[in-house]
Amino acid sequence: MQRTTTVVPQADIDRQLAICDQIAQLSAQRGAQPLAFVDTYGCQQNEADSERIRGYLRRMGYGFTGDEEQAQIIVINTCAVREHAELRVLGNVGALVHVKRRHPDTLICLCGCMMQEPHIADKICKSYRHVDLVFGPHALWQFPEFVQTLLTRRGRVFRTADEPGSIAEGIPVVRQDSVKAWVSIMYGCNNFCSYCIVPYVRGRERSRAPEDILEEVRQLAAEGYRDITLLGQNVNSYGKDLDEPMDFSDLLRAVNDIPGDFLIRFMTSHPKDATHKLFETMARCEKVAPVLHLPFQAGNDRILKEMNRRHTRAQYLEKIRDLRSLIPDIVLTSDVIVGFPGETTWEFEDTLKVLEEVQFDALFTFLFSPREGTPAAKLPDPMPREEKLRNFNRLVELQNEISARKHAAYIGKTVRCLIDGRSGEEAYPLSARTPGNRLVRLAGDEGLIGAFADVKITGANTWSLFGELI
Ligand code: SAM
Ligand code: SF4
Ligand code: F3S
Repeated sequence: MQRTTTVVPQADIDRQLAICDQIAQLSAQRGAQPLAFVDTYGCQQNEADSERIRGYLRRMGYGFTGDEEQAQIIVINTCAVREHAELRVLGNVGALVHVKRRHPDTLICLCGCMMQEPHIADKICKSYRHVDLVFGPHALWQFPEFVQTLLTRRGRVFRTADEPGSIAEGIPVVRQDSVKAWVSIMYGCNNFCSYCIVPYVRGRERSRAPEDILEEVRQLAAEGYRDITLLGQNVNSYGKDLDEPMDFSDLLRAVNDIPGDFLIRFMTSHPKDATHKLFETMARCEKVAPVLHLPFQAGNDRILKEMNRRHTRAQYLEKIRDLRSLIPDIVLTSDVIVGFPGETTWEFEDTLKVLEEVQFDALFTFLFSPREGTPAAKLPDPMPREEKLRNFNRLVELQNEISARKHAAYIGKTVRCLIDGRSGEEAYPLSARTPGNRLVRLAGDEGLIGAFADVKITGANTWSLFGELI
């Protein structure tokens, strides 16, 4: 089979790295180390992309700062999934005009999903004249040459051409955490759920070669990372574009075989592609955490059809039953959209029924947000906002009750947790995660960060657990 995915030739990545080195030399000659400010909106995929942007920046000789005023380069990695996210970005980018006025040499760069939307790129071009560089996710691998152009010539750079997307290996990475790591296993999405902008801005599904993924995980395990999340918009369709097709379950098994004491997580799974084979593989692989994020979006079949989800409520519930028969204590989380165009309150109640039946441990709830260019944005949407909000609040209340009840059931149990950082609370300074990714706050020494430890759960609320080290 011919590989349909375009892989950026290594020589092209090497050329970008050589540009990084030239920029680093120039800044070294100037004396003080230049600083970069990188801000990220959106999902883990964007977090992972920002780690590559930081990787390039470090190779260009930049250090990092959390203060825009100190930075010689500002990079804002944006998200387009809902209007709220976009408005926040536009507000913050608007405010950067003052930074640019005070520091005219500071480079202001916008990247990420929003920049791949033609009307947004247009708006930035016309109305945000202080922005120097705009590029979409497809062009991330060329970031060094864009910076070089800005540093050596006057003018602005816009690189937002629509394309199916490619895969670029060998970009340096600066990770934000020393315990948890993201590993993108694929990019893009082919599903075109009718409300969603992601396939338009992230391009078609394309899978990284298994040997590249396994090598990255091997390195992370050797460096002592304890919690590794495999990322993709729909990881269950991993491998379909590879020369020698390998499915996600096979990949999971291969990652599980890598020696080391670490947990494997993955997200996101699409119900239509989550198979019995996947559930069996999860049950058999001791490193795969007993947790599944399986978005169902809506409980009513008419709405699911309008959403182009290609699964019914019954099929979803059957998958959950199958999974629970193999892993009875599986932790389940999901995404739900309230107020899809045309959804009646009567139809919305089917969503509540799914919550009651499945008893999710946690839920990510969203109010429908029309996205320009998606089919759902053109549908008539007669329900008043107040009614949507009333339904939204009913959903959140029901889930809060379920989450609190599920959390309370942990009290008295001893759970092997990964201590993953500081909680910011005086009484419980450490934060930890159960294998099912429930947050636990506890007292203890910071030296324990990065270790697995037995924790006795002593308290719980809707959002987290409290415990003590044994
Ligand atoms: N690929 C994943 C999936 O299929 O579930 C996640 C996609 S998206 C980054 C995360 C969540 O945002 C979706 O599961 C959906 O609930 C929500 N979402 C996407 N588009 C939305 C929209 N237009 N309005 C409200 N919520 C939206
Ligand atoms: Fe969006 Fe659907 Fe793709 Fe998820 S599967 S990214 S919701 S189109
Ligand atoms: Fe947002 Fe792009 Fe992720 S739209 S949710 S950052 S894929």
